[in-house]
Amino acid sequence: MTVLEKIGSPPARLGGTALYDWDYLVQEDRAHRLIYTDPAIFEVEMTHIFGGTWTYLAHESEIPGENDFITRRMGLRPLIIVRDSEGKIRALYNRCTHRGTTLCRWDKGNSKSFQCPYHGWNFLNTGRLRGVPWPEGYAADLRDPKYNLAQVPRVESYRGFIFGTLNLDALPLTEHLGPISTVIDEWLDRNPGGKVVVCEANRFRYKGNWKLAYDNSCDGYHVAYSHRSLLETENRFAGENAKGMAYYRNSPDTQPMYMRYTGHGNHFKDKRPNLEKRPGGLWALESAHPGMEHYESEFIKRYGDRAFALLDLAGSEPVNINVFPNFSLLGNHIQVFEPVSVEETNAIWYGTMIVDDDGNLGKDAVTDINALRMRTQEGFPNFGEVDDIANFEQIQRGLMAIEDEWVYMNRGLGIPGRVKTHEDGSITAPATDEAFMREHFKEWKRLMKTRDNFAIQREP
Ligand code: FES
Ligand SMILES: [Fe+2]
Repeated sequence: MTVLEKIGSPPARLGGTALYDWDYLVQEDRAHRLIYTDPAIFEVEMTHIFGGTWTYLAHESEIPGENDFITRRMGLRPLIIVRDSEGKIRALYNRCTHRGTTLCRWDKGNSKSFQCPYHGWNFLNTGRLRGVPWPEGYAADLRDPKYNLAQVPRVESYRGFIFGTLNLDALPLTEHLGPISTVIDEWLDRNPGGKVVVCEANRFRYKGNWKLAYDNSCDGYHVAYSHRSLLETENRFAGENAKGMAYYRNSPDTQPMYMRYTGHGNHFKDKRPNLEKRPGGLWALESAHPGMEHYESEFIKRYGDRAFALLDLAGSEPVNINVFPNFSLLGNHIQVFEPVSVEETNAIWYGTMIVDDDGNLGKDAVTDINALRMRTQEGFPNFGEVDDIANFEQIQRGLMAIEDEWVYMNRGLGIPGRVKTHEDGSITAPATDEAFMREHFKEWKRLMKTRDNFAIQREP
């Protein structure tokens, strides 16, 4: 049995839901600047969105063994994601129950217990208080569960991706993901054993609201303009202009790519229909990276006929999969959006490697693929993300113009036959449409309006 403590919505003075007219602030075709700039709205989001719905926390490969832990955040809450001594994955609040300091100051490690640096209270990695210095000074019963660490009451994984929510009424994770899980499956299943392991990250912090990143996650409209220099770099030596994001040139909506909204704020941009289905088809699109020709010719020398199928495993998967509010699979990366304040956000790009548990590829091939994957994964964060972040920061500046209130997201809206709703409820639209944004804002608004059944949990 676990002990659940009910928690309320933020108090009204912090912008509790009653104070805002959400239907005014987010309309079908436009959103009000306040949702990106108002600290009180941000405060509500930190419970109703980050906590109110399934929020990505970490990947299981980051804590592969018992007692492994990493520190992460859910919204602003500092967490320790740990595989406890019995193998159970928990999301402990990284907050000492004595006087509130963060308990663990490390990014990651392996430990059966955590000792608070302030006065030395010691907690097992199940969250239970194990002991305090000089306990004879306490008349209180320190076995009371209130002294055990708070934890996220619901933590579930989907094929290695760990999510958490405080919302006791949220659907089970697999139901919540629904149709987007099919694309996540496809993203995983092209790799040996249908899995990846997470390696280190490119970390960015920008001065802008977290939603600016999610609003851009499925945006095919900006590419030819915002990333023009990257497109030109990618295609400088490719006569047919076919590398990287070249589909977005000229008239992108006539290309066989599309966007699909699958519900609960989730969507994906599918560029895979542009691919030639042959070994090396994906690799042929990979944009230029230093030393690439050398790698390619080495692969051909070492692996002969298998070389191009192996090179495809190093090539970036041409799909962007976005799970609201903070998770994207982009190329071969896991990208995570981490709010810092109403006007500051971390955008973290975790690289992924392949593993070969069945030994079908051979150790050398796996090492070579992963070395090359590191190169291909350095590309976009360094040459593309910087363009996007520059936009996010400049939007935040632009939105300081108080009297000019609205942000428009009406591309594709009202044109007969352009945006299609399918039998399963999903919605498709051409690659440059803002249908994805209109839809994820409906989910945002639903969550902001709802007073859900939130709780934290402590060991008994
Ligand atoms: S704040 Fe942790 S032991 Fe005092
Ligand atoms: Fe972009």
